Amino acid sequence: MFKYQVDEHTSLAITEMRHAEALYNVIAENRHHIGQFLMFAKNQTLEETKSFVETSLTRFATGIGVPTCIWYDNQLIGSIGLHISKANRSASIGYWISKEYEAKGIMTKCCKAMIDYGFRELDLNRIEIRAIKENIRSRAIPERLGFKLEGTLRQDVQLYDAMADTIVYGLLAQEWLY
Ligand SMILES: CC(C)(COP(=O)(O)OP(=O)(O)OC[C@H]1O[C@@H](n2cnc3c(N)ncnc32)[C@H](O)[C@@H]1OP(=O)(O)O)[C@@H](O)C(=O)NCCC(=O)NCCS
Repeated sequence: MFKYQVDEHTSLAITEMRHAEALYNVIAENRHHIGQFLMFAKNQTLEETKSFVETSLTRFATGIGVPTCIWYDNQLIGSIGLHISKANRSASIGYWISKEYEAKGIMTKCCKAMIDYGFRELDLNRIEIRAIKENIRSRAIPERLGFKLEGTLRQDVQLYDAMADTIVYGLLAQEWLY
């Protein structure tokens, strides 16, 4: 099993099918919180969570994804993953955490761990974090970690009944490792 110890309480472990129900339960308990900016959470069924896990594991097996669940002691509290473009040695990070564990610095630490893994173990050259313009909490993470704000993708995503802008943050291996 792939497991990355982030700190005394927090670890990242590859999202496995046996954890699909726990993952679904956290999503179901946090539909409004996660769903504000990630629409999948609003209506996702257990079957859809299982299908997400299956697809994610296939992506992991072929080297184009690193899907992990965030564990606090023995409790599943969130998700963080890398979506990789092997040809370009680049990846983007996506994440969410349950409301109960928000604002404790956990996601910032998990991102640091994922960035270290991406640059050191996977030899990536570039990591991106994209966030909807109004998602101030999410944008604070790449800003805190030294990413550069590279641009705005105007009307990039459909967010419920409106189009939303996406802010792109980028970090290069040379900026993180040296
Ligand atoms: C976006 C999201 C992941 C951010 O999570 P978060 O808990 O705010 O992020 P962090 O874990 O980095 O927490 C930072 C906060 O913890 C505080 N903190 C406490 N200890 C800290 C530490 N050791 N290090 C860093 N921050 C710490 C910071 O002061 C900050 O609080 P503030 O923003 O109120 O000042 C979360 O809000 C979420 O899941 N949102 C819904 C889904 C979503 O939008 N996902 C992202 C889509 S792009």
